Amino acid sequence: MKNWIKLEFPGTSINVGFARAAIAHFAAQLDITLDELEDIKVAVSEAVSNCVVHGYREKSGNVVIEASYEDSRLEIIVEDFGHGIPDIDAAQETGFTTLPEERMGLGLTFMREYMDKLLLFSEVEVGTKVVMVKNIPPRQAG
Ligand SMILES: Nc1ncnc2c1ncn2[C@@H]1O[C@H](COP(=O)(O)OP(=O)(O)OP(=O)(O)O)[C@@H](O)[C@H]1O
Ligand SMILES: [Mg+2]
Repeated sequence: MKNWIKLEFPGTSINVGFARAAIAHFAAQLDITLDELEDIKVAVSEAVSNCVVHGYREKSGNVVIEASYEDSRLEIIVEDFGHGIPDIDAAQETGFTTLPEERMGLGLTFMREYMDKLLLFSEVEVGTKVVMVKNIPPRQAG
């Protein structure tokens, strides 16, 4: 059966924990391991943090998250309508950050590592969208 949710909230740091917990709760409906759940929590936190820290730097707006699962495939889409990313390839290099004083440049690397698929779409001053997929293989009985 396919199931899905859609959340929208202001892109402020106070909502990062809410988003992580909400998506974890949604994902927990699947037959999922604690390790898989941790991976999803990290990926969602990093994606929403990026919306807040970068997308809505000196700007404000909403974050929209859509999560869905069907069979053993969980898809999570995190979108903002903020500043956007001028160079998508550079942004995805490990250690690349436009805020070197405060950030490590690891968020997108973690998302790619902890999820099975990551697609990044962005347009300057239009916004940024991250699509992440995690395959949840059926667990062995017993
Ligand atoms: N939603 C977004 N809106 C605008 N720019 C973004 C967004 N997400 C990522 N970026 C750009 O991509 C860069 C790399 O992102 P990444 O999450 O890998 O590192 P970081 O956020 O800079 O550091 P860390 O995640 O380790 O705190 C960011 O520095 C920023 O320039
Ligand atoms: Mg980041």
